[in-house]
Amino acid sequence: MISIHNLAKKYDNKTVLDNLSLDFQTQETTVIVGPSGSGKSTLLKSLNLLVRPDSGTLSIDDLTIDFATKISKTTSQKLLQKTSMVFQNWNLFPNLSVIENITIAPIENLHQSKDIAFTKAKKLLELVNLSDYENYYPQQLSGGQQQRISICRALAMEPEFILLDEPTSALDPELENQVLRILTDLSHKKQSMIIVTHNMEFAKLVADKIIFLEAGKIIFNGQSEEFFQKPSPRIEQFLSKMTLEKD
Ligand SMILES: Nc1ncnc2c1ncn2[C@@H]1O[C@H](COP(=O)(O)OP(=O)(O)OP(=O)(O)O)[C@@H](O)[C@H]1O
Ligand SMILES: [Mg+2]
Repeated sequence: MISIHNLAKKYDNKTVLDNLSLDFQTQETTVIVGPSGSGKSTLLKSLNLLVRPDSGTLSIDDLTIDFATKISKTTSQKLLQKTSMVFQNWNLFPNLSVIENITIAPIENLHQSKDIAFTKAKKLLELVNLSDYENYYPQQLSGGQQQRISICRALAMEPEFILLDEPTSALDPELENQVLRILTDLSHKKQSMIIVTHNMEFAKLVADKIIFLEAGKIIFNGQSEEFFQKPSPRIEQFLSKMTLEKD
């Protein structure tokens, strides 16, 4: 479980995260939703130290980080082994093949043998239906395929949580569905995930828990069924706007 307590972040005196406290459970998919600018990406990136909150704490297993103090390299490396961000396709190494992209970090950072790393990578490629593509290079793949490789790359590090920020925003609808299907499969397999998305249909399908953020505050933190089936007036307004925007 990841627990955050009183997480706060300001940019130029503007409060972006307003003393957030919440838990993200393992073996569950938590989906973060909310209006543009509400702090969703900032919150997600804080869990992977891509953003440093000004204050507050983050705990996962026996590791606790106090953002008000300096974070040692050992501590940040420990956190980065537990949470892995799925970057969008431009983060694949263009000069490495698909299988090399997936295995480079396990070999270099986790000190896995090449044999073990390749065997695991092949299993991951099977999982995302890309077994035939292990020797391709990123530029030979569609956006959806590259995004699925990015998911394999994050999973290859065997993190506790994978983090995804609008995983399909750059994809056309057909490719989007390929990626959403893989993520739904992973969710059913109890991979712990935290996903930011504007796609409410996907959120409904994949989420165990929903966090609704507005202006850096938690407006809702609970079960997905409750969010969609018994929305408060504010959530109902948000949901109807999201549906209208899609039309
Ligand atoms: N590096 C930065 N410098 C200054 N302000 C920032 C920075 N990053 C984010 N912000 C501000 O923080 C607020 C929250 O941004 P964030 O990216 O977390 O929103 P979001 O909920 O992910 O929005 P969206 O749905 O549009 O992606 C916004 O007002 C944004 O302008
Ligand atoms: Mg964002």
